[in-house]
Amino acid sequence: MWPWHDDGGRVSPLKLCVLIALAVPAALVVWRYQTHALGAEPLNRAIHDIGNWTLKLIFLALAVTPARRILDWPQLLMLRRMVGVAAFAYVAVHLGLYAADQALDLGKIVGEIALRFYLTIGFVALVILAALAATSTDGMARRLGARPWRRLHRLVYLAALLAVVHFFIQTKAALDEPWVMAGLFGWLMLYRGLAWRRGSDRRVPLWTIALLAPAAAALTALGEASYFWIKLGVDPTRVLAANLGLDVGLRPAAVVLAITLALSAAGALRAAARRHLGSPQPARSAAT
Ligand code: HEM
Repeated sequence: MWPWHDDGGRVSPLKLCVLIALAVPAALVVWRYQTHALGAEPLNRAIHDIGNWTLKLIFLALAVTPARRILDWPQLLMLRRMVGVAAFAYVAVHLGLYAADQALDLGKIVGEIALRFYLTIGFVALVILAALAATSTDGMARRLGARPWRRLHRLVYLAALLAVVHFFIQTKAALDEPWVMAGLFGWLMLYRGLAWRRGSDRRVPLWTIALLAPAAAALTALGEASYFWIKLGVDPTRVLAANLGLDVGLRPAAVVLAITLALSAAGALRAAARRHLGSPQPARSAAT
């Protein structure tokens, strides 16, 4: 079976399109490197670009389960493994580029990973992704057994958390993007907690999912305000107030709100379309 095959061994146009889409960011980095479009420090730029995509792919893999339930689109599940393995491939390239940047000096690379906290946790995240990619096949899932396999694969949340912290620590100035990722991580954890509380069918009503959006945005704003308060002594009410207007541009909390509300709105539209077209509501309806 090839990655673009579905469970029945047929070519899946959806999987094929996603596979091509997953290769595009890496291909663009290679092309920009070849055409000297990566600036004065091309290797460092490439490390950043590939690192950024690694993080996005980890989050995309984590979003598959909620999106599948909210959009009532069971076929999405077959993309999870592909996106997860792609995240590992990207982080392997990220590490490879870092090694190249250190002139492949193995002693220095190991020393830096051991000494620099942000590299240590990045490396732990990489090891987790490697273990998940290695056990992602159907054969490995059978060999491990369903429960241990599920337990092992829950480590992806730890990998995501470590990756966000790695992003925070290495970002020297503008922290907006790390805060967006932290807010989205908060949303994913809130969703997971709610789904877990609903028992075996994991149904979370759509209205609850819609409420998660402002909750995640509020957590993002509070996190950002606390950070500026503790680190720089900035009055937290000023940061919170900045989140309520657009004077200093779109704040991370607003981005988190927009992304997570868009997902809830897409779920509501899909449920409405189903009702309008009279299609039968499946057992796991759009409200799951
Ligand atoms: C799953 C694991 C990892 C993820 C998700 C990840 C992600 C990222 C992200 C998002 C950035 C910042 C990109 C930007 O500023 O736009 C970054 C930077 C960086 N990462 Fe990683 N990373 C991971 C693991 C590693 C590992 C294992 C190493 C090396 C041992 C590493 C070395 C670096 C370096 C050197 C930078 C740039 C730092 C600088 O220029 O000051 N990362 N990474």
